Amino acid sequence: MSNPCWFVLLLLAAWLGHFAMMVASHNWFYAKPFPRLVGDLVQLFHVILGFLGLGWVFQGVWILSFHQGNSWPDSLAETYSLLAILTALIGVPWFESKRWRLKHSVSINKLETEKKHWPSSWAGEKMAWRLPGNQSLFLEIRTIELPVENLPLWLHGLEILHFSDTHFGGNDKRSYFENLFNEASKRTPDFIFFTGDLVDAPEYLSWVVPLLGRLRARRGKFAIRGNHDFWNLPEEVAKSLRRAGFCCLGNGQVELDFGNGNMGSLLGNERPWNNQVNQVEAAGNSQFTILLAHTPDQAVLAANQGVNLAFCGHVHGGQVRIPFIGPLLLPSIHGRLFDHGFYKIAKLIMHVSRGIAGGFPYRFNCLPEIAWVRLVEGKKGTNP
Ligand SMILES: [Fe+2]
Repeated sequence: MSNPCWFVLLLLAAWLGHFAMMVASHNWFYAKPFPRLVGDLVQLFHVILGFLGLGWVFQGVWILSFHQGNSWPDSLAETYSLLAILTALIGVPWFESKRWRLKHSVSINKLETEKKHWPSSWAGEKMAWRLPGNQSLFLEIRTIELPVENLPLWLHGLEILHFSDTHFGGNDKRSYFENLFNEASKRTPDFIFFTGDLVDAPEYLSWVVPLLGRLRARRGKFAIRGNHDFWNLPEEVAKSLRRAGFCCLGNGQVELDFGNGNMGSLLGNERPWNNQVNQVEAAGNSQFTILLAHTPDQAVLAANQGVNLAFCGHVHGGQVRIPFIGPLLLPSIHGRLFDHGFYKIAKLIMHVSRGIAGGFPYRFNCLPEIAWVRLVEGKKGTNP
């Protein structure tokens, strides 16, 4: 094959495939419970390999296109380039179609979406705050009616506030959180669920009681911890959450008594950062089971184990979401599959929150969020 047009087409396909493989590899490794420094080195490795690979793939496609020898692929560069081309032609379309199907697997009723924006004078010192289009000082308050098939009668109308990934002390000033939790405390739902990454530095645990303590729930406030909490005195994080009125589930389970013999179950899952108890298999015979997991990867594992509803955080929606494409980098072994919103996997419905803050103070096309979710019986809502 020696046509220059074919060379250009193959090169573009190979570069796309190489990029897709680097992104998938980065996300897979980033999801693993490495110590923070190792995780940072893995990220750096992927950046370097990503750029070096462009030249390597160029060389491989050049040989594939213009090589006159009898045997090919006869070098590592050629073999890798061929793999990259196959990834672009088969792997990428297959993954994206799966992602599209999952994105549309749950239809909800969007009742209300309120947006808040607080002044840029609240931004921190880091350069990333001043990058164009930064939405870190926004907040989206979503009110959703979620149809759940075969929902027990005693759960009709159950109201839940779900928020995640506050990362106190990471970047946002306390004034941002004061306003956010004032908004969140305006209503009293049945349950409040927090799904981890409370603090980025232990000295900010002093914020927990004044901020989260003002939230009220009729039936209880429940929390699990995330990877950042396990990097920052996890026992102290649990104590602070308890002082703010939250039941810290860990990898445990609590029974929920709705009266008249109607029992539900609430599970916590802090894996893979806390492996003390394997509770997902312990869903038991509860009539309705809700799971709080920091990472959606764990909720996906629970899909065939009797869990009905799951709430997760951790992935921050990817933080930078390219229009029509979505995020590229997020810490999940499933890559970009579960970035934010509702997903149905077998009988499980999972809500993945975009979270509130993060270690990197930049969000594009990815507003921080809190979600009010009201359960109703049914198969379908009006909005996908
Ligand atoms: Fe987080």
